[in-house]
Amino acid sequence: MKHLGILLSGRGSNFLAIAESIRLHKLPGVEIAVVISNVENAPGLAAAQEMGLKTAFVDTRGRSREEHDMEVIARLHQHKVDLVILAGYMRILSPRFVAAFPQRILNIHPSLLPLYPGTHPQRQALAAGAVVSGCTVHFVDEQVDHGPIILQRSVPVQPGDDEDALAARILEQEHIAYSEAIARVLSGQYECRDGRYVKRDTEPERTGSAHTL
Ligand code: GRF
Repeated sequence: MKHLGILLSGRGSNFLAIAESIRLHKLPGVEIAVVISNVENAPGLAAAQEMGLKTAFVDTRGRSREEHDMEVIARLHQHKVDLVILAGYMRILSPRFVAAFPQRILNIHPSLLPLYPGTHPQRQALAAGAVVSGCTVHFVDEQVDHGPIILQRSVPVQPGDDEDALAARILEQEHIAYSEAIARVLSGQYECRDGRYVKRDTEPERTGSAHTL
């Protein structure tokens, strides 16, 4: 069984979409081991509690970023987490956190990275006059909204779109993309090569005989 540790700060619709994929057996061999939030009253945390999942609120007050992250790391280890899933987690991770789970932290961002990292990506897309936008699931490195791209899904920007309309169209695709990306990572069929996440070379065919080892 592979264990996910979900980190969230808000409504948690991406978390709920992943939980639904698990319920529908679209992510076989995967379970949510713990849901952690830095926001005590995050709706996503309440939803996780109602679903009977293990949850934790890790307070940020009165601690350095690193001290806070140390507790989050400890809890992830305690629940034997294999993959850390950032699902609307509004905190920048300390280098120590990133190093604790090398290539095992995933994030989703509502733009086609490397375009529009940071806040209000949908607003940035509209301001730039983009005709296409979308979402990106990527491995987390020490830069914000940056790291090898696992997969992307695109949507059209429609004339007359405002930020909310575009965000809603992208969010629908986020809910599909995150589970697909988790499945891809756990499949073991992909690897990072020169900063790109690509399918592993297929094994050369074995034409074994009694004499080959
Ligand atoms: C999503 O748009 C995600 O891409 C971004 O934060 C938002 C979180 O939404 N990182 P939700 O809490 O999963 O509903």
